Amino acid sequence: MMAVPVCRLDDLQVKDARGILVDAPDGAPRALVVVRQQDRVWVYLNRCPHTGVNLEWQPDRFFDLEGRFLQCATHGALFRPEDGYCVRGPCAGDSLESLPVQVENGQVLVSL
Ligand code: FES
Repeated sequence: MMAVPVCRLDDLQVKDARGILVDAPDGAPRALVVVRQQDRVWVYLNRCPHTGVNLEWQPDRFFDLEGRFLQCATHGALFRPEDGYCVRGPCAGDSLESLPVQVENGQVLVSL
């Protein structure tokens, strides 16, 4: 595993979710979702556990209309932002794959 820079914490709003493509150490690109709420940051693979598609409705549109859950645009599964657990939808009980994340000097790093 290697820590790969994803974005700066300041690039994210206080409540935000962004789709970011990074190059993993093996050279393959990985589609990630970076989620921030206040000073906490989580990173997930941008892959719905139901069929493996990307989650977003439109670029960087991951939250549901109430802004409470991350939502898969394809069949509407809802995921808790803080742990990726699917609370409702065809993959209820599954989770987004979360990746170890750390923030150093304002830089968000993910281990890949
Ligand atoms: S592909 Fe995400 S809910 Fe079906």
